[in-house]
Amino acid sequence: MVKHILLTGGSGFIGSNFVRFVFNARPGVKITNLDALTYSGNPENLADLEHDARYRFVKGDIGDAPLMERLIGSGEFDGVVHMAAESHVDRSIMDAGPFVRANTLGTQVLLDVLRRMQVRHKEGKGPPPPRFVYVSTDEVYGSLPLEDKSQLFTEETPLQPNSPYSASKAGGDCLVRAYHHTFGLDLLTTRCSNNFGPYQFPEKVIPLFVTNLIEGKQVPLYGVGANVRDWLHVEDHCEAVLTVLERGVSGEVYNVGGNNERSNLELTHAILAIMGKGKDMIRNVEDRLGHDLRYAIDASKIKRELGWQPTRSAWPKALEATCRWYVDNRKWWERVKSGAYREYYERQYGTR
Ligand code: NAD
Ligand code: TYD
Repeated sequence: MVKHILLTGGSGFIGSNFVRFVFNARPGVKITNLDALTYSGNPENLADLEHDARYRFVKGDIGDAPLMERLIGSGEFDGVVHMAAESHVDRSIMDAGPFVRANTLGTQVLLDVLRRMQVRHKEGKGPPPPRFVYVSTDEVYGSLPLEDKSQLFTEETPLQPNSPYSASKAGGDCLVRAYHHTFGLDLLTTRCSNNFGPYQFPEKVIPLFVTNLIEGKQVPLYGVGANVRDWLHVEDHCEAVLTVLERGVSGEVYNVGGNNERSNLELTHAILAIMGKGKDMIRNVEDRLGHDLRYAIDASKIKRELGWQPTRSAWPKALEATCRWYVDNRKWWERVKSGAYREYYERQYGTR
């Protein structure tokens, strides 16, 4: 079992859920969270754990090679879970630069630190590099047709990313593959479908729609809502990542999915029903450029080889619980939507 994990991007949606999940599932494990606190990194997500002896926060950018060298090269971690990323497709359409810098180049900086550790270790001059899990996305596979539901993404599906976001994540995937193949580093990759749950930044469809409805605003549905996503509860994803870190086979890729395909229209109708609102609250807006039609994951490999399967993602219960979280935690998302969460950051860590 790993004892001390370096988690990158731990102040974001999945990262903050991962910290909570690991502390519950493995009470003896320590986590250092390295996060640059970009717009989607919110230290309030983990405010209650700030004084937990198992938790440490380091503010920093994965692209800062000297900092990464000092941090990872210290040898205090036996596992790295790499989640830090620019994560929103619509933002990547407006400006791809930050995506390539964080998702592709940032990943290369981390891999090069491991490579240098390996060289020093072989010379008897330092600790071995830690195991490294790259948290990727099903979006690297591109898009499936809507008509043929038998088609699913497997780990053998060629990478055909369609958005600047997925292209920059696929850059990271390819580097992880190459550094394992060339240098024999202990690297693994997970490719997960769309997550839902608490603490998701309200630019993503579920928290955006739920919080808009609470505020009495309409929900902007792209096109006619025909696009399909495979929804997985964030805690199921966290469990899959921990499983891969602990028991995955070095160099392997594991697909992670909820077996829970829904069109955006179906999702919107479900949210409206849960929130007690009518279809008049839907505003059909212009479609996203290059909008991928359908994502659907075949997660049979991780089930067969590592025994993981989703247990928290079943609808409508899991969706209802998520909507309820946003109803009950209005202060959290109001501070995000208004930008007030940055004040907390500035008080704690200075001006960004
Ligand atoms: P998020 O945007 O909520 O969080 C990203 C975090 O990374 C933030 O805390 C941000 O401050 C940090 N970060 C960004 N750039 C950084 C940098 N250069 N250095 C250090 N920290 C940086 O994203 P999320 O939804 O939690 O996604 C986490 C990971 O999971 C991403 O790698 C994403 O590609 C992947 N993923 C997400 C989903 C999903 O549905 N959200 C699905 C599959 C995979
Ligand atoms: P999103 O949450 O951005 O995740 P991703 O693009 O990574 O799948 O979007 C999920 C789906 O919801 C996607 O098909 C686009 C659609 N969508 C809308 O219809 N309206 C919106 O305002 C947003 C943000 C997304």
